[in-house]
Amino acid sequence: MDTLSIRQPDDWHLHLRDGDALRAVLPHTATQFARAIVMPNLKPPVTTTALARAYRDRILAALPAGSLFTPLMTLYLTDRTDPAEIATARGSGFVHGCKLYPAGATTNSDSGVTDIRRLDAVLEAMADAGMPLLVHGEVTQPEVDVFDREARFIDEVLAPLRARVPRLRIVFEHVTTKAAVDFVRAQAEGVAATLTPQHLAMNRNALFTGGIRPHHYCLPVLKRERDRVALLEAVVGGDPRFFLGTDSAPHARHTKETTCGCAGIYSAHAALELYAAVFEQAGALPRLEAFASEFGPRFYGLPLNDARVMLRRESWTVPEEYPFGADRLVPLHAGQTLGWRFAGKAR
Ligand code: DOR
Ligand code: ZN
Repeated sequence: MDTLSIRQPDDWHLHLRDGDALRAVLPHTATQFARAIVMPNLKPPVTTTALARAYRDRILAALPAGSLFTPLMTLYLTDRTDPAEIATARGSGFVHGCKLYPAGATTNSDSGVTDIRRLDAVLEAMADAGMPLLVHGEVTQPEVDVFDREARFIDEVLAPLRARVPRLRIVFEHVTTKAAVDFVRAQAEGVAATLTPQHLAMNRNALFTGGIRPHHYCLPVLKRERDRVALLEAVVGGDPRFFLGTDSAPHARHTKETTCGCAGIYSAHAALELYAAVFEQAGALPRLEAFASEFGPRFYGLPLNDARVMLRRESWTVPEEYPFGADRLVPLHAGQTLGWRFAGKAR
């Protein structure tokens, strides 16, 4: 098989940034995907429907001429989120989820939630409105090992939250562990998860292959091989609760290659190609379409896309870097050869 034609996919977890950075990265995503869930961790964060509307307008203004891409906006929860904001967000028609960043867990999370139990009124309002909670699932206590933070989050935060507000729909974002896969599988309904290309393709050795690899550093950090295998089994098994979310998170080259480098892997330049390689290697290429293009919209209650896109079997070399405003951006697998290439909309 030398070409692959699938229903056009959506990216259910994406960082687009703002300003020059937004203009630099948006064409990559808008070329491959029809829609994307846009993360709200700007500085300052997107905490209200009014801010989400303004950010959405900036994204639409930055789109290449003729692009049909639709940004699906999210709100950033804080300790001070007003429960009344949820109905406003739902009524807008363009806000599709609220993101829980535990304070201090990751990039621009300092305004995040310090204690989720104080947000029960907001979570109840979300359950009433059918607004999903999108979760960055890591505890932040400094004594907890960085590789255990997701598993501890499940036990200490997510499972109790599920018990307190069982009607709340939840997307466990960028799951990285077997514990997370097992948790999602054990839920009756209303819980799903996104999976990134890096966590499906690499284990934590990739952080140290031949030396330290800042461009393989993201949060949650890459995990053990047995975790990667559990993620892979979840997606190639065709379980509709597991769907595509790249977590493509651009940072300027000099902010990654430094004494205290930022977390985030940029994958939007070759998102579909990276997932196709994962599925093909697992002997499950026919399962890619449902993972990329069907399970996400079904969970979010949105229509499937009508357009189709093509991938071609073709060796191509990922550029060493892309322009990123006044800076440069190093993509995942820079300088390496990939075996599939995005070939545009199918007729
Ligand atoms: O690696 C990450 N980068 N993880 C996150 O949770 C945030 C993201 C970013 O915004 O750079
Ligand atoms: Zn993210």
